[in-house]
Amino acid sequence: MAKHEKSLSQAIRDRRATPSFDGAPILAEDLRAILDAGLGAPSGYNIQPWRFIVVQGEEQKRRLRAASYNQAKVEEASAVIVACGDADGWRKDLDQMLLQGREGGMPEGYAEQARNSVPNYLSSFSSDEMHGWLNKMVMIAFTHMMLMAEVLGYDTAPMEGFEQEKVDEVLRLPLSYWVVALLAIGHLKGPDKFNGGRFDSSRTVFSEEFGKPLK
Ligand SMILES: Cc1cc2nc3c(=O)[nH]c(=O)nc-3n(C[C@H](O)[C@H](O)[C@H](O)COP(=O)(O)O)c2cc1C
Repeated sequence: MAKHEKSLSQAIRDRRATPSFDGAPILAEDLRAILDAGLGAPSGYNIQPWRFIVVQGEEQKRRLRAASYNQAKVEEASAVIVACGDADGWRKDLDQMLLQGREGGMPEGYAEQARNSVPNYLSSFSSDEMHGWLNKMVMIAFTHMMLMAEVLGYDTAPMEGFEQEKVDEVLRLPLSYWVVALLAIGHLKGPDKFNGGRFDSSRTVFSEEFGKPLK
């Protein structure tokens, strides 16, 4: 572990949705490590439908802020990773996924089955179902990145407050892209947000079946 890295459990304890950033630039090597953490996430069939647009330029951050209900932290952050899903990604990526899988020891029977089942499964989705599927996959990568940023000593703010069509326009996204969430990364400016706490697990965790408490 590098000297300045927090443990994952410490990062999870410390993390808050950062209300305001000081704008100091993020180190390129740290940004790369954060993105790599996202790219290492698991996904259904390993199809990796995420696409990340990294916004660091002042003018582009201003435009993204305007597409995000004028949330100041979009402009203040050192970098904003716009986490998207590509509904058509699998069409281009299936061969590559199978190639890399085979190189890593994917059994031939699995590869043959995936060649049919991936198109069957994903082409059966309605637009809403595809968005749900993309949300599910992209948020795992998003969470990897958020926590890696915290491990590296940065502060983060996840954001769902944006207008899809406006972000499409600012980033010139292809039609098949679906914007899932924005991840602002930087260093906290001023006081941190209050800690809203979490529900007691008796409200949200059950054992064996719904309603039975986990002792
Ligand atoms: C996916 C997601 C989207 C969010 N979107 C916004 C947002 O657009 N603006 C904002 O101020 N906070 C946003 N939040 C922050 C939440 O309000 C915050 O995480 C929650 O209140 C718990 O606080 P904590 O993260 O400091 O523990 C978002 C959080 C998540 C996980």
